[in-house]
Amino acid sequence: MEESKKIIFSGIQPSGELTIGNYLGAIKNWVKLQDEFDCFFCVVDLHAITVRQEPKLLRQRTLELLAIYIAAGIDPEKNTLFIQSHVPAHSEAAWLLNCYTYFGELGRMTQFKDKSKRFGDNIAAGLFDYPVLMAADILLYQADLVPVGVDQKQHLELTRDIAERFNKLYSPTFKVPDGYIPENGAKIMDLQDPSKKMSKSADNANGFILIMDSPDVIRKKISRAVTDSLGAVKFSDEQPGVKNLMSILSTVTGMSYSDIEKKYEGQGYAGFKNDVAEALVEELTPIQNRVNELLKDKAYLETIYKAGAEKANYISQKTLRKMQKKIGFIPLSK
Ligand code: TRP
Repeated sequence: MEESKKIIFSGIQPSGELTIGNYLGAIKNWVKLQDEFDCFFCVVDLHAITVRQEPKLLRQRTLELLAIYIAAGIDPEKNTLFIQSHVPAHSEAAWLLNCYTYFGELGRMTQFKDKSKRFGDNIAAGLFDYPVLMAADILLYQADLVPVGVDQKQHLELTRDIAERFNKLYSPTFKVPDGYIPENGAKIMDLQDPSKKMSKSADNANGFILIMDSPDVIRKKISRAVTDSLGAVKFSDEQPGVKNLMSILSTVTGMSYSDIEKKYEGQGYAGFKNDVAEALVEELTPIQNRVNELLKDKAYLETIYKAGAEKANYISQKTLRKMQKKIGFIPLSK
């Protein structure tokens, strides 16, 4: 049975506090995949150090992200949940794949171009190389499908190119993965500037809501969210702020856009905003409580990440050995 399921790999960086964009756009959808697919969900701490991290915060955020995965409903028994740095094959495979990736290809990555502008003189080589590590993550598990947001599509294309190149040069080694963009994988926008994706690095803290924000903060931020002067709850490109609030409400409650339009017809924004806030509070409160409980039980979290690392190590080593053998390295043991 297990063998016939398609394999899914995805990961999130523990590089900051997560927003409802990460939750509604990614994690909430992962929860729905766990019965149909064989899923690997990774806390990608090796990716996080491409920009400087405070060691204590990195440790906290790594465990918190694992706790969020579990609290959101990703069952650690059904899925493989693990921490990337516990599985050395990721770093090793990244080095190998580096030698099959071109400088020019990496230079064309728009995320690198954007980030390197932001970090000016202090651009680590790892930031340039980051997509190769991501390719290693995916290819080591022979993933069929990779749920990613649009901002990661270019990295996934590169992963496919690297896999095809290696397969052609030697012989079939890697599954060439496809992107998996779930139907209702909402892209949540900034509440103050709905032309931008919601991000915790936004200048205005009212632009984003964190998964761990308190009910009062959530209510305040939703009530201050930018709308427009049309005063009608309609899903239209002319009303990006309202559209964004509607997609939050729809993703949380499952209501369709036309249901939402009907419900608020002839009303202003106050009641609508109030309902968006309450729906979010209702969705997030149990998750927050569970995260806090889990973070108090470090021993439990340890059993989860140890079991995850064991499984991930076993699978990734098999692919790594294949790579080494094809490249021409002498095996230490047969
Ligand atoms: N690069 C991704 C991001 O920043 C995170 C990531 C790392 C990832 N490895 C991955 C996503 C493998 C999917 C599959 O969002």
